Amino acid sequence: MVKKIAVLNGPNLNLLGTREPDTYGTTTLEEIHALTEQQAKKHDLVVEFRQSNVEGELVNWVQEAAKDRAGIILNAAAYTHTSIALHDAIAAIETPVIEVHLSNVFAREEYRHHSYISDVAAGVICGFGATGYMLAVDAIASMLRDK
Ligand code: DQA
Repeated sequence: MVKKIAVLNGPNLNLLGTREPDTYGTTTLEEIHALTEQQAKKHDLVVEFRQSNVEGELVNWVQEAAKDRAGIILNAAAYTHTSIALHDAIAAIETPVIEVHLSNVFAREEYRHHSYISDVAAGVICGFGATGYMLAVDAIASMLRDK
């Protein structure tokens, strides 16, 4: 059976392309979706790609993905820095979660330096723009191979 990975995107990432291009680049979320799909295909993986501005919806998707997805790539956007609910959802599941950020959050405002996701994530990728999503796909594929 083909393994599926969930790629979950948080608030305001639907605006990529026009949102603060100096910080986030000009690649749209649709383009990131396509690039992620291509990368996954190289590893015989299938991508389920979602975006929501609603915290509870992201929590629901983490729980849903834990049932049968091989891994989760999560850019929780601003909820990274605020959401104990997302922290708890990830802590509750076995499925590996790769935390991704387009920007290097550590080179930005102090309030972006803390993540509620990192300590329950399998790993963190930040600062590589859209490429970070592809690196995360490679990371999950490598974890699956090593299993
Ligand atoms: C982000 C970084 C967050 O601090 C910010 O709130 C975002 C996007 C990133 O991908 O760089 O919305 O997660």
